[in-house]
Amino acid sequence: MYLETVLLRNFRNYQEAKLSFHAQNNIIYGANAEGKSNLLEAIGYLSLATSFRDGSDRQLLRWDAPFFYLQGNVIGKNKMTQIAAGFDGKKKIWKIDGQAKRKLSEVLGNFYTVFFCPDDLQLVKASPQIRRRFLNREMVQLQPSFCHILNRYHKVLQQRNRLLMQGFAVDQMVLASFEEQLAELAAEIYDHRLRFLQRMNEKVYEMHMHLSKEKEQLQMAYSSFLPQDQMKQMDQQDLKKAFLKKLKEIRPQEMKRQTTLLGPQRDDLLLFIDGKNAKQFASQGQMRTIALSLKLSELSFIEEETGEYPALLLDDVMSELDLSRREQLLHLLDGKVQTFITTTDINFQFVRGKQFFVENGSIIEK
Ligand SMILES: Nc1ncnc2c1ncn2[C@@H]1O[C@H](COP(=O)(O)OP(=O)(O)OP(=O)(O)O)[C@@H](O)[C@H]1O
Ligand SMILES: [Mg+2]
Repeated sequence: MYLETVLLRNFRNYQEAKLSFHAQNNIIYGANAEGKSNLLEAIGYLSLATSFRDGSDRQLLRWDAPFFYLQGNVIGKNKMTQIAAGFDGKKKIWKIDGQAKRKLSEVLGNFYTVFFCPDDLQLVKASPQIRRRFLNREMVQLQPSFCHILNRYHKVLQQRNRLLMQGFAVDQMVLASFEEQLAELAAEIYDHRLRFLQRMNEKVYEMHMHLSKEKEQLQMAYSSFLPQDQMKQMDQQDLKKAFLKKLKEIRPQEMKRQTTLLGPQRDDLLLFIDGKNAKQFASQGQMRTIALSLKLSELSFIEEETGEYPALLLDDVMSELDLSRREQLLHLLDGKVQTFITTTDINFQFVRGKQFFVENGSIIEK
């Protein structure tokens, strides 16, 4: 699928911009602070109903403007969809093909995007929380029902943690009554995650092989309360039993620390380059390529699930890759995926496409 046109009104530093894009490559160039990332943010907003920069809709309003409005025409294999999004300072308004929509589930799924920016380096470097969030988001985008399981688990976890705050005074019977439910949901999450990771591992491996010109092997492993290989052999019932057993073992520690020390909320995704832990040993450039491989694996996931590739938004990525990796990336995308690339200077070749020059909130097609 691809975004054919977009209209921005009062969005960030744009008063009004109307653009028509190329179905493959779109290069958005200009100096710093002119509005390149803001344009990608608007495109991403039409897809995810939220900004990829963590922030409220209010921040997206052009200084002092009473509303913003975005509209995009998306061309899919068999249909064209018009997506419109507005915000008046209080309420979000959504329209799909002119019809107002209330539910997020009706808005999502009309236009898929994958976004990559230099901050994604954190996926390799930062704490496990970042990788868990990435994994959860990835899974929710492809299996929206996974969101309910996560929410239910976190509710029970919160209740249990509240009890544990009582320390050694906690009623053991009440505590135990939460554990059954917690273990049930934890097992469901483990089961989903392990199956998802198995598929993802293959895609990430292939992607990284390609980007590194067959030089590096990237592998992922799930780090939890049991070794991954053991967990993979277990069904949900076995996982639940093992989880309950472990919970009993660590209960004295939990009462001392006054929080739940076990579960999907504490696990990690380990990344290995040629068998070595990337967090400790990978170079900056390798980390960047790993993060890119993780994100780009989403392209083929979405294609498998929906029959179409999403649009790819690459913010400031090119200048950070060496020539060989840059070429591999462009070669991989060429022709298959609509791509939006922001850059301060065009120092790479691309075959088909359009170029847009951005200056102080106005965009000129070159
Ligand atoms: N709500 C807003 N209203 C008006 N201007 C805004 C708003 N939010 C951000 N800006 C301004 O938009 C400008 C451009 O931001 P943007 O992040 O798109 O720059 P950029 O072209 O990607 O630059 P860089 O090359 O540094 O990444 C910034 O100067 C910022 O102050
Ligand atoms: Mg930028």
